[in-house]
Amino acid sequence: MKILVINGPNLNMLGIREPDIYGRETYADLLDKIRRHAEKTGTEVTFFQSNHEGDLVDAIQAAYGKQDGIVINPGAYTHTSVAILDALKAVAIPAVEVHISAVDEREDFRKISYVRLACRKTIAGHGTDGYLEAMDELTGGA
Ligand code: DQA
Repeated sequence: MKILVINGPNLNMLGIREPDIYGRETYADLLDKIRRHAEKTGTEVTFFQSNHEGDLVDAIQAAYGKQDGIVINPGAYTHTSVAILDALKAVAIPAVEVHISAVDEREDFRKISYVRLACRKTIAGHGTDGYLEAMDELTGGA
């Protein structure tokens, strides 16, 4: 099974940005953790991170016919981007939304997720373990 893990703006700053909220693991640590988990389940994992909305749309479109699942943390674009929602709907690849923080317990604007409408599940507030749970959701943990 092939899974694309997409991270949106500022997630490349993990470990530096607001560690009280997002923890001290770096983006590189996150990728290592996901890679190790993928090895256990024989999953082929590809990563994409961008701070630019259109690049995230391009990455979703490029996954069409190539990837079996998408794990996506769109960062702040979660709360604003109809374009990312539409791209996920367009490719119709099973997708799971992840947020490191408990977005439902933060500012009101973070409670809105456009992307959620195209995702099988939303995992929020489980730290970076949420990415592993999202992968298990897509692979069946196999
Ligand atoms: C986030 C939550 C978003 O509200 C925020 O803009 C992020 C990260 C999370 O992983 O908790 O950049 O998606």
